Amino acid sequence: MAKKTLGYGLISVGWMGRVHSRGLSQVPERYPELGVVIRKVIAADTLESARDNAVNLMGFEQATENYLDVINHPDVDIVSICSPNFLHHEIAMAAIKAGKDFWIEKPMGRSEVESREIAEGAIAKGLITAVGFNYRQSPAIAHARELVRGGKLGKIYNVEVKMIADYVNDPEGAFTWRYVNEFAGSGVLGDLMSHGFDLAQYVVDDITEINAQSEIFIKERREAAPGTSHFAKNASGELRTVENEDWTSGMMRFANGASGTFESSRISVGPSCEYSIEVRGSLGTIRWNFERLTELEVAYRDAPEYGFTRALSAPGDGHYGNFQPGRGIAMSFDDLKTIEASLFIKSVLERKQHAPSASDCYSAAECVAAAKRSIATGSWQKVNPVTTNRTTKGLT
Ligand SMILES: NC(=O)c1ccc[n+]([C@@H]2O[C@H](COP(=O)([O-])OP(=O)(O)OC[C@H]3O[C@@H](n4cnc5c(N)ncnc54)[C@H](O)[C@@H]3O)[C@@H](O)[C@H]2O)c1
Repeated sequence: MAKKTLGYGLISVGWMGRVHSRGLSQVPERYPELGVVIRKVIAADTLESARDNAVNLMGFEQATENYLDVINHPDVDIVSICSPNFLHHEIAMAAIKAGKDFWIEKPMGRSEVESREIAEGAIAKGLITAVGFNYRQSPAIAHARELVRGGKLGKIYNVEVKMIADYVNDPEGAFTWRYVNEFAGSGVLGDLMSHGFDLAQYVVDDITEINAQSEIFIKERREAAPGTSHFAKNASGELRTVENEDWTSGMMRFANGASGTFESSRISVGPSCEYSIEVRGSLGTIRWNFERLTELEVAYRDAPEYGFTRALSAPGDGHYGNFQPGRGIAMSFDDLKTIEASLFIKSVLERKQHAPSASDCYSAAECVAAAKRSIATGSWQKVNPVTTNRTTKGLT
């Protein structure tokens, strides 16, 4: 089969930038049916050490300080945008102007307004997009979605989504751009709950109304040097005020009539990445937790043995078969990103949106915006619907 070569440009070579690059490197071998070769043309980062890594360790032909060199490079067909949140909008709008398909990290814009401009700009230019909603790529979630949307759980009554993390439970955790609203947009609402809202909408249905609360528990942290990981501790800079929420919880109503609850934290002690969804229907319940990403727990009301059964992922569940030949072999976070990369590439090759789209991310941003309005007013708030170019409908 003749192979198509796609020139790849990476913007920001931090944690996510490296994961995107690794994911794309795996696509030709794990998805030979796509017949693609990825040429790593150019990477951009303001940190010299990150540029060195891109060229010396990650296989990029060249590196630059200026992200526009990536977007405007004539050999670059596809771009990853993995910068801190405050740069997503200007970089995405530059990619749209240049007519380059892009894979962008959540929460995309700092606000629903920035997210809408990105989503609508991409549609107006006929561009393919992909968004870092990696949790929906678990093969166990593919199985869960089939059970929920195929009616196996009966009428869906309740949905519970948790995004509970511990990455800054220590007050000595470094102060980074993530704690400043001008740079991050919000705290756990955008950082973690954008994933959670997407997961709920992907597995169940669109969220129509939200009632939320939030709290900042650790009010000051010490500043760290630019480029410091948000997992770092013992920063020595001045004490800075944390501007956005460490924790949020709330209630949701869904278009299909289901009711739900959500909770997210970045300062829990114990759960590290307890990113979970439980869907309860009239005939059965499913539950999934990212900490055991290839396991789905399933209970049916009329099963001879009442209670949860542990269904381990197997070939046939989502993309599992592209990774492992038999049931129950563990997969990783990086594998979810490789699946996301493959969906981006498939979308680009077929000019048809298969990957989570910028519109899906805009929809999650509208959920975050409704939660923020609810926190400000103490009342239920409607979620502005997003309908065009969504990939959450149906079963494929
Ligand atoms: N999908 C997920 O599960 C997931 C997980 C973590 C982070 N994220 C998202 O990914 C994005 C990046 O997060 P991260 O954890 O990789 O951050 P990071 O701090 O590890 O990396 C950010 C990189 O951006 C670089 N940078 C800063 N200014 C730049 C500029 N002007 N031009 C080019 N590069 C610049 C920094 O030098 C750094 O290398 C955030 O939007 C975050 O929300 C998503």
